[in-house]
Amino acid sequence: MMFIPLTIESTCTDVIPTPAPSVRGKNLDAGLIDSHGRQIRDLRLSLTDRCNFRCVYCMDPDTRFRPKEDLLTAREAIEISSVCIGLGVRRIRLTGGEPTLRPDLAEIIAGIRHIGVDDIALTTNGALLDRGMAQRLHEAGLDRITVSLDSIRNDRFETLTRSSTSAGTVIDAIRIARDEGLDPVRVNAVVVRGFNDDEVLPLASLARELGVDMRFIEYMPLDSARAWEKEKLVPAAEMLELIQQEHRLVDIARDRTSSPARVFEFADGSPGRIGMIASVTEPFCGACSRLRVTADGKLRPCLFSLAEWDVLGPMRQGAGASEIQSIIRRAVAAKEAGHQIASEQFVQPARPMSSIGG
Ligand code: 5AD
Ligand code: SF4
Repeated sequence: MMFIPLTIESTCTDVIPTPAPSVRGKNLDAGLIDSHGRQIRDLRLSLTDRCNFRCVYCMDPDTRFRPKEDLLTAREAIEISSVCIGLGVRRIRLTGGEPTLRPDLAEIIAGIRHIGVDDIALTTNGALLDRGMAQRLHEAGLDRITVSLDSIRNDRFETLTRSSTSAGTVIDAIRIARDEGLDPVRVNAVVVRGFNDDEVLPLASLARELGVDMRFIEYMPLDSARAWEKEKLVPAAEMLELIQQEHRLVDIARDRTSSPARVFEFADGSPGRIGMIASVTEPFCGACSRLRVTADGKLRPCLFSLAEWDVLGPMRQGAGASEIQSIIRRAVAAKEAGHQIASEQFVQPARPMSSIGG
């Protein structure tokens, strides 16, 4: 675990709320357990709905973002984290949109680290992650990082992200994160049939070359254009079979029972790992330990929830920790058993992934 250098700790004192004693530990034994018996241990906290990319499977080119004043401030993000930690959350992942667009990202990380949590992770598209940023975030207390990379071909990468960032820039960011000692470094690749399904093998080889975890993710109906079709989904089993034609893999135990990925190592002992996230074809909802908070401070018990619980509004009206705790408990109690993507009854949530936080 990282210790926060005194310099960072001291510059951050004005944003670190002092949790009420009832929040600090006393409620741990009354942790967050949903009506299906699942304990909430993971918080996914979105810090902005903005992004410097417009990935085709995620965001419309003309997406409108929320005004800045609707987003959680650093203090509010830390305060919500603090209440969740008091309720038994052990791991926090900061997401977006693109969280590196927040100039106060290191401050938020340092604030959460100061409260005390087992693990702080970040999901980023890597476009802005240079050495200086990686070092600042690591020193603030970031443990690990996940960088999204769906193509290693520069032309395709630009088309896919609708940006002028090259795949090479993101691959450099992955190297930078690895060399900085963020551990593990994971890479998320969403595979869409007819678009980048011919890159499964090159991406798997990149995992070996860089010594990082490559996670292949099934395309989910969370795109703002609502262009998702079953035919565009490449099942994880198909991707795995393809990789195994080239590489011998060893199935290793999931790092945690609630981890969504099935993880493999290379049988020849090469560094790097392959992970399969079969969100659609083999849902892992039964072991889900997650709660999500959107950048505008709404609790969502599931990516696919159709209802949300406002926590930022009450906070701004002066709600104390115990009131926030009750809102969180209500949201968790309503956590759905699982998503229904495969069923006729499935209803796509109004919010796209970028506005929920992946
Ligand atoms: N299906 C699957 N994954 C998605 N992501 C964004 N939109 C989708 C989607 N429709 C991924 C991003 C990022 C992670 C947070 O979620 O690529 O890696
Ligand atoms: Fe931005 Fe990530 Fe959505 Fe791409 S997938 S537009 S990088 S939030």
